[in-house]
Amino acid sequence: MKRIFSGVKPTGHLTLGNHLGALHRWVEVDQHQADALFSVVDLHALTVEHDPARVRRLSRQAATLMLAAGLDPDVCTLFVQSHVDEHARLSYILECTATDGELRRVIQYKEKGGQARAAGQSVRLSLLTYPVLMAADILAYGTDEVPVGEDQTQHVELARDLAVRFNQRYGHTFTVPRATHPTVAARVMDLQDPTSKMGKSHASGAGIIYLLDEPDVVHKKIMRAVTDSGQDVEYDPDSRPGVANLLEILSACTGGNPKELAGVYESYGALKKDTAEAVLELLRPIRERHAELAADPGHIDAVLRKGAERAREMARPTVDAAYRAIGLLPAV
Ligand code: TYM
Repeated sequence: MKRIFSGVKPTGHLTLGNHLGALHRWVEVDQHQADALFSVVDLHALTVEHDPARVRRLSRQAATLMLAAGLDPDVCTLFVQSHVDEHARLSYILECTATDGELRRVIQYKEKGGQARAAGQSVRLSLLTYPVLMAADILAYGTDEVPVGEDQTQHVELARDLAVRFNQRYGHTFTVPRATHPTVAARVMDLQDPTSKMGKSHASGAGIIYLLDEPDVVHKKIMRAVTDSGQDVEYDPDSRPGVANLLEILSACTGGNPKELAGVYESYGALKKDTAEAVLELLRPIRERHAELAADPGHIDAVLRKGAERAREMARPTVDAAYRAIGLLPAV
């Protein structure tokens, strides 16, 4: 059976971008057609300035939301990255496979490192090695497919490169993974700045829909979305990014096609109204289920404990094999 791995980083509240780019498909498709693992990748949250209590809180919230959105722990494996030592163990071995040159070229390192320096902060070494840890997440499980939004493509490419390089040098050890993306909404844009990605930690929250936003807030944010100067509803992401973004969001929620939907609308107002309704309809059951689950933290703990046990068992043979292949003496 095909193996799938993907993850969410607890650096902020989960957004509609996370949902449409990743989580929605994990729930609807991936968990049913593969042996799938989904992780709250908390070690990755330590690569930038962080507040320890907040990371802990967001990790629990992310796991709760993943369940609320419909991941079924009887069907897939849901766990917290730091509960499974194999990720950090393998990351070191892959650091011995990667070069500093290829890591310095990673766009996220350049962007986030640049932002930290501009704010007078130092850049953590773990920000540079971030994609190596991500490669370890993926390669530890013999992953075939990594369902992610478009922004993660370069990272998955690096995981592929490291797998191929390691296999060539030390013998076949890792499955070479590939990224998969949703057909629409692979890159949901900020509603106030439709040329940049809707991210968890964008400076202002006005253009970001959080999965736990109150319904009236969601409605307001969509009705106030920046559109373009034209009048006609057309799907053209380059020249009309604001409208294209709304069409993509609406398509992802309703299963339609953005080009076809464009023909249905005669005004931006009508498009916004229907998009707001579709998003609210999508998020309502998630909010309700989240409230129920959050009231029972013991249940979340039990799911995560079982998930980590399963993940450990799945990762250990591959990580042990990598240790042997690269030349480390097995412990007896
Ligand atoms: P993260 O936490 O930023 O995002 C989680 C998932 O949501 C997708 N996503 C989006 N998709 C469409 N439009 C958006 N605006 C948008 N924002 C986020 C992301 O592409 C991702 O699929 N490095 C990863 C976490 C990670 C990981 C892994 C993923 C660590 N190890 C191994 C896959 C496999 C990240 O920061 O995702």
